[in-house]
Amino acid sequence: MTGYLLTVLLSLCMVAAGSLTIKLKPDCASVGKNVTLSVSGINGNITSFTWYLGEPSASNQIINYAVSFTPPSAPGPKNFSDAIGLPNGSLLITNLKTEYSNTYTVQVQADTPGQASAELTVQSEDKCKTGLLTSLMELAVMLWEFFLRNGIYSSPVYTDN
Ligand SMILES: *[C@@H]1O[C@H](CO)[C@@H](O)[C@H](O)[C@H]1NC(C)=O
Ligand SMILES: *[C@@H]1O[C@H](CO)[C@@H](O)[C@H](O)[C@H]1NC(C)=O
Ligand SMILES: *[C@@H]1O[C@H](CO)[C@@H](O)[C@H](O)[C@H]1NC(C)=O
Ligand SMILES: *[C@@H]1O[C@H](CO)[C@@H](O)[C@H](O)[C@H]1NC(C)=O
Repeated sequence: MTGYLLTVLLSLCMVAAGSLTIKLKPDCASVGKNVTLSVSGINGNITSFTWYLGEPSASNQIINYAVSFTPPSAPGPKNFSDAIGLPNGSLLITNLKTEYSNTYTVQVQADTPGQASAELTVQSEDKCKTGLLTSLMELAVMLWEFFLRNGIYSSPVYTDN
């Protein structure tokens, strides 16, 4: 529930900052896997974009991507070889390590400029699986309580008359 509220609040912040949103694909990022910070809501064709580690500033640039340059992608001071800019403005991070956990911000120049941030938390693989298992167990308990309350599994009641 807290997670859901946080998502709603983050989404509202993103809408306020422009109409860009970042979605993590897959949404549980685990060590050794890849994650894409997928940017949607870009208005028109992209001219350029920059990804930052944390707040946008010259010293926080991970990559600069300019469509008209060859190659389009240039490293910034916070570059790391596992961070790859994709033509659609998204950032692919390969070979995930826990130290990649951070806030990532993108600024996009398109027909209208936009900015969005996302929090990346790299989990141990077990935690991602546990998260799913926990949800399934919570669901099972909810169903069980629902059936109990509605008397489906309650013992028959004999009236004495
Ligand atoms: C991660 O992405 C790289 C580059 O696209 C690819 O070569 C690699 O197979 C991917 N790894 C996984 C675990 O999907
Ligand atoms: C951007 O491209 C990547 C790689 O092709 C893809 O996984 C991702 O879904 C794309 N994002 C959007 C918003 O289309
Ligand atoms: C985007 O680029 C394509 C191909 O370069 C072009 O045909 C189209 O008109 C462009 N759209 C806008 C909104 O500039
Ligand atoms: C890329 O990152 C390395 C450190 O990881 C740094 O030494 C180098 O200066 C960076 N490249 C640019 C163009 O800033």
